[in-house]
Amino acid sequence: MSMNKFGKQGWTPDRIEDVQGKTYLITGANTGAGFQAARILLEKGAEVVMLNRNKEKSREAIVELEKEFGPSTKISFIEMDLSELDSVRKAAGEVLKTVPKIDALICNAAIAQVPKQTFTKDGFESQLGVNHYGHFLLCGLLFERIEESNGRIVVVGSEGYKMGIKTIQFDDMNWDKNYHPMNTYCHSKLAQMMFAYELQDRIKAANKNTKVYVCHPGSSATSLIKNSGGLRDRIIFGLMSMTPLVQSAEKGAYPEVMCATEAEENLNQKAYYGPTGRMQWTGPVGECKLEPHAQDKTVAAKLWEVSENETNYEWNL
Ligand SMILES: NC(=O)c1ccc[n+]([C@@H]2O[C@H](COP(=O)([O-])OP(=O)(O)OC[C@H]3O[C@@H](n4cnc5c(N)ncnc54)[C@H](OP(=O)(O)O)[C@@H]3O)[C@@H](O)[C@H]2O)c1
Repeated sequence: MSMNKFGKQGWTPDRIEDVQGKTYLITGANTGAGFQAARILLEKGAEVVMLNRNKEKSREAIVELEKEFGPSTKISFIEMDLSELDSVRKAAGEVLKTVPKIDALICNAAIAQVPKQTFTKDGFESQLGVNHYGHFLLCGLLFERIEESNGRIVVVGSEGYKMGIKTIQFDDMNWDKNYHPMNTYCHSKLAQMMFAYELQDRIKAANKNTKVYVCHPGSSATSLIKNSGGLRDRIIFGLMSMTPLVQSAEKGAYPEVMCATEAEENLNQKAYYGPTGRMQWTGPVGECKLEPHAQDKTVAAKLWEVSENETNYEWNL
């Protein structure tokens, strides 16, 4: 990319101003990039509500954050398992009851490189189910609250969108014939990104104000592969993490925090933000190169329709 709009060092949390009184929802925030995003926002005085599947890990995360920022730091969690649509519905109901204003919903949670084909409670291939369908439904159920708050939706994608098959496999969404840990993960991340760009168009057509931004954390030392990847991938990523090819989880959080907080006039919805250094895996955070297949309108429109059918949720857009 050409010049970085945020200077040579790229976007950093020093740019965050005035998030006091703002509320950020982050999915999968008990660890990894989501946890670091919560830390950065809390340090600046914002309120963070985590949407996590694991109660115990969430309590531990809260203890750690309260230790760092004091007992009055505004951190809480609502239980939500993205691999069960019922759980997403329940969590969204709880959010609507208890969180009056959503300045940004950060769709950060994910599983990756699951070694064998597995299914969510509702029968979806697990990566597509958790990463895409779960968030698709969550965003739909919270949309009006975000709109009323003049808020944002931030979708955490992956450089994987340009690996694998680079399109949506409509004739076999569950990968019954060709399941592949990496390709199937990449498919789910591409689906999330295509959903985001399609959502922007629908918001615009409906004359609504919610902003939707797409980013990726580059290559960051989190528990992603350790949690859901197979043994071989765990070993490879473990070794890679000791090299400059992989950055800290904290740096991996910068793009999502940037998309949630940076002034609107400095961000472009049709863009893709993340580290701009070597292979876009590490380096100064700014606008990254985006391949056109991520914004293929025909595929995105079809994916929207399929996603509404599968989640049994019709958006009001
Ligand atoms: N790290 C990288 O190099 C990299 C590269 C490209 C993209 N990304 C993306 O970055 C984002 C953050 O990932 P990370 O690297 O920080 O991974 P991570 O450390 O594994 O964190 C992922 C989070 O998602 C949660 N999660 C997993 N399944 C869930 C479910 N069914 N319901 C609710 N929450 C669930 C996890 O909860 P538990 O703790 O309970 O498992 C965890 O809090 C993801 O969207 C990922 O695709 C990461």
